[in-house]
Amino acid sequence: MLYKNRIRSQAEYEAARLASIENPEAFWAEVASNLHWQKPWDKVLDWSFDPYEVKWFSGGKLNISENCLDRHLADRGDKTAIIFEPNDPKDLARRITYRELYFEVCKFANVLKRNGVRKGDRVCLYMPMIPALAVATLACARIGAIHSVVFAGFSANSMADRINDAACSVVITADGMSRGPKQIPLKRVVDEALDNCSTVNRVIVYNHLNWMPEMVSGRDVWWHEELQHVDSECPAEPMDAEDMLFILYTSGSTGKPKGVVHTCGGYATYVDYSFRNVFQIEENDIYWCTADIGWITGHSYLLYGPLMSGISSVMFEGIPTYPDPGRFWSVIDKHGVTVFYTAPTAIRSLMAAGIDHVLAFNLHSLRVLGSVGEPINEEAWHWYYLHVGKERCPVVDTWWQTETGGIMISAMAGVTASKPAHAGQPLPGIQPVLLNQEGQEIEGNDQEGYLAVKFPWPSMIRTTYGDHERCYQTYFSAYKNYYFTGDGARRDENGLYRIIGRVDDVINVSGHRFGTAEIENAINQNKHVIESAVVGYPHDIKGQGIYAFVICDKMPDNATQLREDIYETVSSEIGRIAKPDKIQFVTGLPKTRSGKIMRRILRKVAENELGSLGDTSTLLDPLIVDEIVAGKL
Ligand code: WT7
Repeated sequence: MLYKNRIRSQAEYEAARLASIENPEAFWAEVASNLHWQKPWDKVLDWSFDPYEVKWFSGGKLNISENCLDRHLADRGDKTAIIFEPNDPKDLARRITYRELYFEVCKFANVLKRNGVRKGDRVCLYMPMIPALAVATLACARIGAIHSVVFAGFSANSMADRINDAACSVVITADGMSRGPKQIPLKRVVDEALDNCSTVNRVIVYNHLNWMPEMVSGRDVWWHEELQHVDSECPAEPMDAEDMLFILYTSGSTGKPKGVVHTCGGYATYVDYSFRNVFQIEENDIYWCTADIGWITGHSYLLYGPLMSGISSVMFEGIPTYPDPGRFWSVIDKHGVTVFYTAPTAIRSLMAAGIDHVLAFNLHSLRVLGSVGEPINEEAWHWYYLHVGKERCPVVDTWWQTETGGIMISAMAGVTASKPAHAGQPLPGIQPVLLNQEGQEIEGNDQEGYLAVKFPWPSMIRTTYGDHERCYQTYFSAYKNYYFTGDGARRDENGLYRIIGRVDDVINVSGHRFGTAEIENAINQNKHVIESAVVGYPHDIKGQGIYAFVICDKMPDNATQLREDIYETVSSEIGRIAKPDKIQFVTGLPKTRSGKIMRRILRKVAENELGSLGDTSTLLDPLIVDEIVAGKL
C-alpha cells in the first residue's frame, strides 16, 4: 500500500503521480481506504465538467467526526488532541485529550439535537478561536448538520447575508472574544444580524468572558446550561459520501459572496491525504496552523486534517503581535511545535518588527515550515527559512483555494523540490494545466498562462449553495471542460509552478479574499458616495492593499472626516478587514463610451506606474485621467 500512509521519496512521488493519472479510480480508492468507512462505496468516481457534476465514493457511508475522534480512542485516547493557547500569555494553556474532545463533541451534539437541529439543517457558527468552536463544528458534523462558520471579523450585515443565503436555523456564538488588547462583543453582533434573519429560531451562547449579555427569551440559551440536560452518548450519523458537510462563504468577482459547498467523503479523503503528505506528518508531531477556523485553512488544516491524523495541534486564540511581535516564536518554544503553518502577511509583519524578536527564541523543535494564502515573496521566504527554520526546515508553499478544499500544488516537506516563491509541483492525483487566452493547453516548461485543472479531485467544490448555475458559470464556463482557478501561473524550466496572482477582479489582502465589486458596493452605501471603483495595489505587509477612487455628491471640505465615515460604512457592511488603505476623492472615473470603468488605468495609478497608462483616447473623458494622476495618494 504505497499511498496509504505517505509518500516518502522523490521516486515514490513520481510513481504515485503516474499511477494517479493512469488509473485515478484505483489511486483514490487506495487513498480513501486510509479512513474508516461505515459502508464501502459502490463507485469511486462519476464526473462531468459540462454540465458540472462530480460524485466521489458513491454509496459509501462515513462520518468525519468519527474519523477525527472515535477511531483514535483505543490507541490515542489519552493523547493530546488540542493544545489551547489563550490570547493572554498570562492565562493558562489548556490540553484536551482525544477522549475528552470525543465526550465534549458527543455532549454538544446532543445539545444541538435537543435544540431541534436535524441532519441537513444549516447551523451558523460565529465564535472566537477557542476549543468550543472546534467542538461545535465537529458536533455539527457528527449529527449531519451543515456548518457554516462565519469568521468573527465579519460584520452583522455580512453574517446576516450568509445566514439568509443558507437559511440557517441555529446560530452558535459566544458572549465576546479577545484579540490582542481588544475585546469584541460577539453576541451583540449576532443580535444585530438577527434583526434581519427570519430563519433563525435558536442562539446557543458560550460563556467565554463572563460578560452575561442580554438573552432573548425563547430564542437564546446558554451552552453550559444546555449541557446539564444531555448525556454523553451520541453515535455518529452515517453520512453519504456526497452529503453536504459544510458551506463556507468566499468572495468572487461579483458583489455577493458565494457559499462554497463541500461534501463528506471526498473532502475527508483529500484533506487527510494532503495533510499527511505535504507536512510529512509523524505520530509525535506538535502541529500549529495559525489560521482561524473561519477560513478554509482552519477547516482543513487546523481542525479536520490534524484530528484525522491523530496528532496534537495548537489552537491559538490571539494575534501574532500581542503582547509583542515575539508571540509566535514564544509559543513554538513553549509547546515544542514541530510543524508550523502560517501566512506570508504574518511573516512580513513580524519581519518588519525586527529580528530581535525571533532571535530571542531557540525554535529547535521546528521540523517543517508552511506558507499559505498568497504568493510568498523571496525576501519573506528567505527570512522564514533562515531565521525561523534556521536553514534546517523545508518550507512548503502551499497553493490552494476555498473551492479546492485542500492543498493542490506544494512541495512535500523534504521529499520533493522546493524553490523560493514557487508552490512547486502538484500533489499526485491533481492535474493542473496552463491555458492560453483561447483556452488551449500550453505544453512544456518555462511557460505562463491561466491556471486550470483538467481532472476532478475528491475535495473539489460541489456547488455554490442554492445556485448550481452560478458554480458552473464561475468555474467551468470560461474554459470548457476545465476547472478554472482565477489565478495566473508560471511553470518554470523544471515544471515547478509559481502562482502569479488573480487574473479576475478579486484582491487578496493579508491572505483574505475580496471582490472589488463587493467593496465598491459597501462604499456606495455611504450617503455621500455616488460611485466608486476599487483596485488592489502592492502592499509591503498585506500583499495587496485596497485603493478606492470615490466620487461624492460634492468634493468634501473635510476629507479626513469623510474618509472615517466611509471606513465606518465598510466596517458595518463587510467588516474591519475590508477597510480601504487609500481613499482618493475624484470628480469622475475613466470610463469607456459604453460606460465600463477602465480598471487597468486605475490599477496603474494605484501601482504608481504612471508612465504606462496605455491608450486613453477611447475614454469618454480622457481629461479625467490627468485629474486622477494629479490627486494620486
Ligand atoms: C487564492 C485562494 C488556500 C487557503 C487560503 C486562501 C491565493 C493561496 C497561495 C500560494 C500564491 C496563493 C490564490 C488563490 N493563494 N495560496 N501558496 N501562493 N497564491 O484561500 O481565500 O480561497 O483564496 O489565494 O490567488 O486563488 P482563498
